[in-house]
Amino acid sequence: MRPYPGHLIILEGIDGTGKSTQAKLLANSLRDQGHRVVLSREPTDGAFGRRLRESATTGRLSPEEELQLFHQDRREHVETLIKPSLQGGEIVILDRYYFSTMAYQGVRGFDPQEIRRVNEEFAPQPDLLLLLDLSLDTALQRIGVRDGKANEFEQLESLQLCRDIFRSVQDDFVTVIDADQSIEDIQDAIFAVVTDLVGNSPA
Ligand code: ADP
Ligand code: TYD
Repeated sequence: MRPYPGHLIILEGIDGTGKSTQAKLLANSLRDQGHRVVLSREPTDGAFGRRLRESATTGRLSPEEELQLFHQDRREHVETLIKPSLQGGEIVILDRYYFSTMAYQGVRGFDPQEIRRVNEEFAPQPDLLLLLDLSLDTALQRIGVRDGKANEFEQLESLQLCRDIFRSVQDDFVTVIDADQSIEDIQDAIFAVVTDLVGNSPA
């Protein structure tokens, strides 16, 4: 039996794969069909999430501090928004979740499988994980990175490792989407998979 009446749909992938674009489009399409939808993201806009975002400009935290903050941010997100919405029968769409922790903090030296285990103790498992997969070159082009810092070899290598960790996630709920298509084609591919899950109209 399902643990709650709602549905949890996650979009993941490295930066520039189109997650936030597709999350918004999906939320709008589902709302047009009459579904009740909550769209959110991680890191969140709460205090922990803000500290994490700030650290991108004010200086990166130690790997341990960073991992702890992502987990604090997610615990709060789960308790205040994700679980109540799922229990209330809503479709929850998240732009990033604990698979990003597996990938990005995995690259910083933590074991991705251990990260997954820890998260599954407090964070609901998704009904659908849409993994937007795209080559590094195209992803970086989309976010306007050509030369400079983000092109340093180490950073490219880290992003490639993130992509590899995302692609290594295996479960029945995973659907890999080729993100090297037009926005409309990706939208259609996602909508087809989501309709299989939630149906054409609200129950
Ligand atoms: P993410 O949330 O994964 O970082 P975004 O949705 O913010 O990605 O998209 C990054 C950039 O790429 C934005 O400028 C967006 O308009 C553009 N973009 C998104 N999807 C596509 C696509 N399928 N083809 C070309 N450009 C895209
Ligand atoms: P995001 O806001 O999605 O970045 P952008 O708007 O630039 O696409 O996420 C911020 C960064 O946080 C991104 O580089 C991925 C990283 N991140 C982690 O390192 N671990 C996590 O658990 C999450 C959710 C995000």
